[in-house]
Amino acid sequence: MPRKRPEELRSHRWFGVDDLRAFGHRSRLLQTGLAEADFRGKPVIGIINTWSDLSVCHAHFRTRAEEVKRGVWQAGGFPVELPAHPVTEQYQKPSSMLYRNFLAMETEELARSHPCDGLVLMGGCDKTPPALVMGALSANLPCVFVPAGPMLSGNWHGKKLGSGSDVWKYNAELRAGNITQAQWKDMESGIARSFGTCMTAGTAATMMLAVEAMGLALPGASSIPAADAAHPRMATAAGRRIVEMVWEDATPASFLTQASIDNAVTATMGFGGSTNAIPHLIAMARRGGFQLDLDRFDAISRRTPLIANLRPNGDTWLMEDFYYAGGARAFLARLAPWLDLSARTVTGATLGENLEGAECFNEDIIRPLDRPLQAEGGVAILRGSLAPRGAVIKTSAADPLLLSHTGPAVVFEDYNDMNARLDDPALEVTPDSVLVLRQAGPQGGPGMPEWGMMPIPKKLLQQGVRDMVRLSDARMSGTSYGTCILHVAPESHIGGPLALVRTGDLIRLDVPNRGLDLLVEPAELERRRAAWTPPPRRYTRGWTSLYLDHVGQADEGCDFDFLEHGAPTPEPEIH
Ligand code: FES
Repeated sequence: MPRKRPEELRSHRWFGVDDLRAFGHRSRLLQTGLAEADFRGKPVIGIINTWSDLSVCHAHFRTRAEEVKRGVWQAGGFPVELPAHPVTEQYQKPSSMLYRNFLAMETEELARSHPCDGLVLMGGCDKTPPALVMGALSANLPCVFVPAGPMLSGNWHGKKLGSGSDVWKYNAELRAGNITQAQWKDMESGIARSFGTCMTAGTAATMMLAVEAMGLALPGASSIPAADAAHPRMATAAGRRIVEMVWEDATPASFLTQASIDNAVTATMGFGGSTNAIPHLIAMARRGGFQLDLDRFDAISRRTPLIANLRPNGDTWLMEDFYYAGGARAFLARLAPWLDLSARTVTGATLGENLEGAECFNEDIIRPLDRPLQAEGGVAILRGSLAPRGAVIKTSAADPLLLSHTGPAVVFEDYNDMNARLDDPALEVTPDSVLVLRQAGPQGGPGMPEWGMMPIPKKLLQQGVRDMVRLSDARMSGTSYGTCILHVAPESHIGGPLALVRTGDLIRLDVPNRGLDLLVEPAELERRRAAWTPPPRRYTRGWTSLYLDHVGQADEGCDFDFLEHGAPTPEPEIH
C-alpha cells in the first residue's frame, strides 16, 4: 500500500514549511514546552472529546483521551485534544436532538480549521456517535470512533435494573400504587452505577454498534463496558491505528461503500435497536454521499432476524451480559448471512476478516438463527393518509395484540396539554383509544423530543392496562417500549395530516400491511386543512432559529439542508 510522505501531510502546511505563518505555528507550540521533534513531520491527530461535567455517560473521557494519546505517541503521531459540544442526553432541553447537528458542524469545522491529519471521535451518549460521524464524513479525514461503552448493570435489592426501561416500568407501578415512594427513591442510586452509557439496548448501544458495523470502530469496541480494563486498551489501540491510517490515507471516502451503510442498518435491525437510529443513519449515509431511505429500513428489517435478547426487547439481559456473551463480534458474526463481509473497515481489513474466530458464550443472549427473539427485525415503516412520508413503529417492543388496531383518537395539542390532562379522571379514554400528541416533531418540539412513549393514563393503569396505541411526530428513547407510532412525517407543526386529527376520529394501525390511516372523509379533511393555521414561531434568534430554518423532516434524517452531501468545502488558505 502506498504511504504518504511527511511533506504530503495536511499539517505540513502549518508546521513543515519555512515561512512567516509556520514560524508562528511552530513557535506557539514550542511555547507549551514541546520540542519541534514532538510534532514536525508527524501525523497530527485531533481527538474530538465530548467530555463535560454534565456529560455523565462520558465521565471517563478525560482519562480515556490520555489513553488515546498514549497510542498516538507510541505510533509516532502528535495528539491534540479538541473539546467539543458534549450533547448531554440527560440535561439538555427541550431535546438533545436539537444539538446533534451542532456537534456535527463543530466536528467538521474543528477538523477543517485546525492542522488535523486524522481524527479520533470520542462519543457514545445518544446523539454523539451520529454527530461525530456526520462531521467526520463531511471533513473526510481518516477517523476512528472510540465508543464510550455501556455502564455497569443497574442493581436494586438484588434485581437487575436497566437504564430507562426500568424507570418507565417502575414509574408506571408507582403511579398505579404498586410500589412506594420510598422504594422508588431508593432506585435512584442503583440504576446508574458507573460511568458509561445507558446499558439497555437503547440509542447509545445501538448507535455505537451501528458505527462499528459500518466499519468505523475497532472490532468489538462498541460493546466493551466503560469500566472494563479492556476499554482503555481499546482507546490506546485506536490511537495507534489512526496514525497508520493517516500514512495509508485511509479516508472514509476511500473505503466506505453502500454495503457499509446496509451493514449498519442490518446490525441495528438484528439488535432490535432504537428507532432513533433511523434518522441518524439516514443523516450519516447522506453525509457520505450514500442512499438510504425509510423503505430500505423496512426491507432490511423484514429479512433480518432479531437475535439480541436484551432489554427492552427481552426482559432479562443488559449490555454487560452481552459483552460477556461475546459482544459485538459474536453478534455480528452470527448475523453474517445478512452482512456484506467484504466491506472494508478502519483496521484496513474487511468486516469478515475482523470477525474471524468470534465466539458466542451465551446462546440465550445472542440467539442462534433457528431460535431468534423475533423472526424479523424490530422495526416497521408505516405509510398512509396519516403519514404520507412515513412513520416508524418498534414492533419488537410493542404488544403484538395491538399491531392491528382501530380506535378513537384522544388528541393532545402539545406536551403541556398532555401533562395537564392525561391523569384527569374526567378524561374520556379507554384501552382502545389512540393517544395522539402534536407539536413534537423536528420543528414543533423543536428538536423532535423523546415524548413518543406517552404515559398510560392513570385511570387505565389502575385497571391493569400497561400498553395502548400512541401516535406522535416525536421520537422515543431507545430504552422505551410500547405500541408507539413515531416520527410521523410530515410533522403537525408544518401542517402534516397529524395536525388535522380531532378527538373521536378513528385511526387504523395495520402493521402487517404497513398501514396508518385516519378514517375521515377526504372532503372533511379538506375543510379542516382550509381552516388550519400554522402555530406562531417562538424562536427568532440564535441556534434554534437557524435550526428551524434548515432542519429536514424525520424521513430525511433531520440534517440541515446546507450540510447534506455536496461539493467538499475548500481547504482553508494558510496565511
Ligand atoms: Fe447517555 Fe443514555 S443518557 S446514553
